[in-house]
Amino acid sequence: MISNLSITKIQSTFQTALKNGLIRNEDSSVIFYDLDYLEERIRYLVSLFPTSALHGIAVKANPLIFILKILNQLGVGAEAASLGEVMIALNTGYSPEKIVFDSPVKTMEELEFALTTGIHINLDSLAELERVAALKKKHSSASTIGIRINPQVGTGTILESSVAGEYSKFGVPIKTRRNELIEAFTKYDWLTGVHLHVGSQGCPMEMLLQGIGVVYEFVQEVHSKSGHPQINIFDIGGGFPISYDHHTVPASMEEYVSTMKNRFPTLFSDHFTLFTEFGRWAHVNSGWTMSRVEYVKHDIGINTAMIHVGADLFLRECLNPESWPHVYSVLDKDGNLKTGKDKNPYNLAGPLCFSGDILAKNVELPVVVEGDYLIIHDTGGYTFSMWSHYNSRQTPRILGYFKDCARFEILKERGTDQDLVDFWK
Ligand SMILES: Cc1ncc(COP(=O)(O)O)c(C=O)c1O
Repeated sequence: MISNLSITKIQSTFQTALKNGLIRNEDSSVIFYDLDYLEERIRYLVSLFPTSALHGIAVKANPLIFILKILNQLGVGAEAASLGEVMIALNTGYSPEKIVFDSPVKTMEELEFALTTGIHINLDSLAELERVAALKKKHSSASTIGIRINPQVGTGTILESSVAGEYSKFGVPIKTRRNELIEAFTKYDWLTGVHLHVGSQGCPMEMLLQGIGVVYEFVQEVHSKSGHPQINIFDIGGGFPISYDHHTVPASMEEYVSTMKNRFPTLFSDHFTLFTEFGRWAHVNSGWTMSRVEYVKHDIGINTAMIHVGADLFLRECLNPESWPHVYSVLDKDGNLKTGKDKNPYNLAGPLCFSGDILAKNVELPVVVEGDYLIIHDTGGYTFSMWSHYNSRQTPRILGYFKDCARFEILKERGTDQDLVDFWK
């Protein structure tokens, strides 16, 4: 399994798209997805886990309907962080038992809907547990129910996406609430699942495994105290890191699963159904983005390439560039890779009206001129799903391709002026 798409492949895809008229003059930026590669990653993931596992691929990473349909056809499920994401999954054709509802602020109405629909619910708090207990007196439900436990194993290198520190707004902290959690399982025999998520990207594999270990031990304690194996759903969450910079060798999913199997063997027995919630690992490496370079400024000794995507598509990158070290390449106006040995530092500035709208600073690139195309690698997840309407810019055209570009699909058309007006109505 390769970890990043090569620039050679990206270049030839771009040239084919250009030749086929898929990049029109108004397409100042376009997002691309290698859909075969996405499929390959999903199939690989599925092959590593027991066949009974439910892989709820995080909708928040990439909610494009075309892509969700592909994932659904591949037999994986959907992890939904809001009722909106649940609705998207249901509308795309996911069956309820393949949807995992994880929102941290579920209203009574949302819980009622989830219970009557039969989707799996991961409760975020003990208060939410009592709401479900009240609702379950009124409704019979096919939903399975788990509770999110904060294993409190620490934070990773990216604080904003770390959720298993001593304090977290998510889940029930195990150190201070262990007894209440045990009581919850004693009180409610329908509570049959545990859920954890340690963080996204900045948490190393060992930290993710430690989180699983803490919850695994807790499950064993519940079972030995009660004398019966009530918990049979173990949701390990997502968070598996990928390589953005192309130098860091990414952690191996195969090693993750085999270590899990060695350390926590009963999780792989028939008793447990494993749930996973990968988003970044599934999506990011299959996508890339091109923006035309509209202007290049050379002022006070700084080169600035003015491009058409910034914090509207790359919110996290603009706010915290060190944590998201994308690789950038430059193609000339015909789509040929610029490979000049003479490199210069460039700031990559987006189109939005605030000074923080800079995707990266001092990126070493061959000479960039007006009309070139900047390629931003590894943009398949947590990019378009985080689109910002600030400054009312049109959303880019989104293209998917199969079979080494034998087939392109428009996954989403470029936004129109009317779309912008409609949004603000
Ligand atoms: C509860 C939960 N599950 C899964 C994910 C997906 O994480 P990742 O995309 O890093 O795999 C997240 C991300 O924030 C999350 O909060």
